[in-house]
Amino acid sequence: EKGTYPYYMLKEIDDQPAVMRRIVQEYTNTLGETIIDEKIIETITASDRIYIVACGTSYNAGWVGKALLEKMTNIPVEVHLSSEFGYNMPLLSEKPFFIFLSQSGETADSRQVLVQVNEQGFSSLTLTNVVGSTLSREADYTLLLHAGPEIAVASTKAYTAQIAVLAVLAKAVGDNKRNQFSLDFDIAHELSVIAAVIETIIDEKMLISQLVEEYLTTTRNAFYIGRGVDYYVSMEASLKLKEISYIQAEGFAAGELKHGTIALVEEGTPVFGIITDKKTAAHTRGNLKEVESRGAHNFVIALASLSKETDQFIIPDVHPLLTPLVSVVPTQLIAYFATLQRGYDVDKPRNLAKSVTVE
Ligand code: M6R
Repeated sequence: EKGTYPYYMLKEIDDQPAVMRRIVQEYTNTLGETIIDEKIIETITASDRIYIVACGTSYNAGWVGKALLEKMTNIPVEVHLSSEFGYNMPLLSEKPFFIFLSQSGETADSRQVLVQVNEQGFSSLTLTNVVGSTLSREADYTLLLHAGPEIAVASTKAYTAQIAVLAVLAKAVGDNKRNQFSLDFDIAHELSVIAAVIETIIDEKMLISQLVEEYLTTTRNAFYIGRGVDYYVSMEASLKLKEISYIQAEGFAAGELKHGTIALVEEGTPVFGIITDKKTAAHTRGNLKEVESRGAHNFVIALASLSKETDQFIIPDVHPLLTPLVSVVPTQLIAYFATLQRGYDVDKPRNLAKSVTVE
């Protein structure tokens, strides 16, 4: 129930700290060890490549999952769109393991891939929010997101829950492989920190609302840019913005702008830069300068330790691998307020259904 909230989306954004804590409770013990079915851990450990298959927001979460899994397990990970993968399957490795990400567990595009995966006898795992959903029943294994019902068409807490559960899974497999990075990673602690940081970001929602009024009320288009995980979050941030506010938004790899896209930047074009990665911060700042000199209205979302005084929104530091769990939150609020201010229905955007059951 949405209770006193004007829209489910806002409630679901607000739910995220509780969801992070629930995931810690469900998937770790008091010693800080992960609780995941041994069979899942052994099967992934024995695989030579992980294929993440998903659509929309779940696909965007998959890219962050790739970063986590590769770092902690040393197993190569590919991320694919279900609707492409099913009909143009790449050459598979010898021992593939499939991970399906689906909030609803009912997405037809993903199901058609799972049907083929089962026909070929490959192992599979579904991460879903819905107990007993089709993708859960038809895959070998299931991990639940424990996010509680997600009603708004725009997915928010399922995205962060997927990333958190993938982090737990990466840790479980990484520990099994005695990966040092994984052994040193205190997942329960880090996710608890994340929960608290998400709360502080949500507390600043009125600031975001004001900024959105300044940046997005009349614009026709907007861009998100970033590198690495910041690029992955840019893709998600722009999907959120376009699907509910109808502002034409795109997420770009910051370094790729100068190879073509920068031609779209005009006087006043809002460009949101996401900066949470020390390795690439200076380069992304350079790219922001380039667009600024062509008239862009820059909006920088930066991690505190990498921030500058002129940045519009600053996020407290969290573990470097988990920054998407916090950097995405201001972008969810940006999409929410842009939609509200433009007078559209936040929870029920035109032309869209909550779960897409046709291919
Ligand atoms: O239920 P699923 O996670 O399989 O759904 C996938 C997409 O349809 C979904 O994430 C969609 O992109 C959302 N409306 C995005 O907010």
